[in-house]
Amino acid sequence: MNLNKKNILITGGTGSFGRACVRHILKNYNPNKLVIFSRDELKQYEMLQDLKNINVKNSCLRFFLGDVRDKDRLDLALKGINYVIHAAALKQVPAAEYNPMEFVKTNIIGAENIIFASINNKVERVISLSTDKAANPINLYGATKLAADKLFTAANNLSKGKPIFSSVRYGNVLGSRGSVVPFFNSYRQNKNQKIPITHTSMTRFFISLEDSVKFVLNSLKLMKGGEIFVPKIPSVKIVDLAKAIVPNRKHKIIGVRPGEKIAEVLITKDESKNTLEFKNHYVINSEIFGNHNKKKYKLKDFEYNSSKNSHFLNEKQIRLICKNLKLI
Ligand SMILES: NC(=O)c1ccc[n+]([C@@H]2O[C@H](COP(=O)([O-])OP(=O)(O)OC[C@H]3O[C@@H](n4cnc5c(N)ncnc54)[C@H](OP(=O)(O)O)[C@@H]3O)[C@@H](O)[C@H]2O)c1
Repeated sequence: MNLNKKNILITGGTGSFGRACVRHILKNYNPNKLVIFSRDELKQYEMLQDLKNINVKNSCLRFFLGDVRDKDRLDLALKGINYVIHAAALKQVPAAEYNPMEFVKTNIIGAENIIFASINNKVERVISLSTDKAANPINLYGATKLAADKLFTAANNLSKGKPIFSSVRYGNVLGSRGSVVPFFNSYRQNKNQKIPITHTSMTRFFISLEDSVKFVLNSLKLMKGGEIFVPKIPSVKIVDLAKAIVPNRKHKIIGVRPGEKIAEVLITKDESKNTLEFKNHYVINSEIFGNHNKKKYKLKDFEYNSSKNSHFLNEKQIRLICKNLKLI
């Protein structure tokens, strides 16, 4: 699908994903309008300054201050928009446990507002970013993202094709704001500090920012409405990640934090019965939307689990990737 001449809006456009996505679109396409929708004017100002320093044509950019909790503001922002990429969210697991209603308002009510503003404005496609924490959630962040996924799937029944709504679900993004890579990296200077590790068996799925952007844009192209797109991505052992970023350093085990799992799941056993496998990704089809031919579904009792993944990165590979991405 070509984004040239299209009007595209990215909620959370100043976040880790949003910034990478905007750069990718400006480098590879020529949209008519690319709208960044978020709350903080400083992040928007700083993003514009950064974009002025790279060699991309940015006259199509529009910075729109707004909150996804405010449906009137969203209604205005979505006028004339063809595609919405919904990346705005609150996402820190511990913050969600202590401020549950804030997460409900942004991640769930915000999703509902996006849906109705998109229907009112006859947007063509809406793709929403979800997370592995939404699969069998045990923390409130994951539960709000699962609720948002369900809202986006069900929205296809309301919109009757204009727009179509789908979601993308992936694991940890290497080097994103507040993630474990910058956290471990902050321990490199002080050689006496031990690296805190929650659990020696902990594993996570990992994807690079650039690959997450490519996957979201490809899903925007493939979507028919109601699917959850899941990329095939490698796992890492958190212990190997710590060793890769800060080699030859002692670890201290601090225990699993509230709301944390030892392993993450991208596709649950229950979802596998309506999941299709492709070379580089899976598609979880909605049980309530779309035409289902049960014979198409070959995965039975399959769980895409970060500890049982067939593809693990070792310490050396992680270090090389982090170096290439200039994260260490
Ligand atoms: N990073 C990961 O490891 C990861 C993994 C899987 C899925 N995801 C999902 O990917 C998406 C993007 O994540 P990210 O890493 O880019 O997050 P991020 O860096 O924290 O960025 C979040 C963005 O959302 C905006 N925002 C927050 N609340 C808002 C509101 N109420 N209204 C409008 N904008 C709001 C923020 O800007 P302001 O504060 O200025 O409003 C910021 O631009 C999220 O949906 C997240 O759940 C992330």
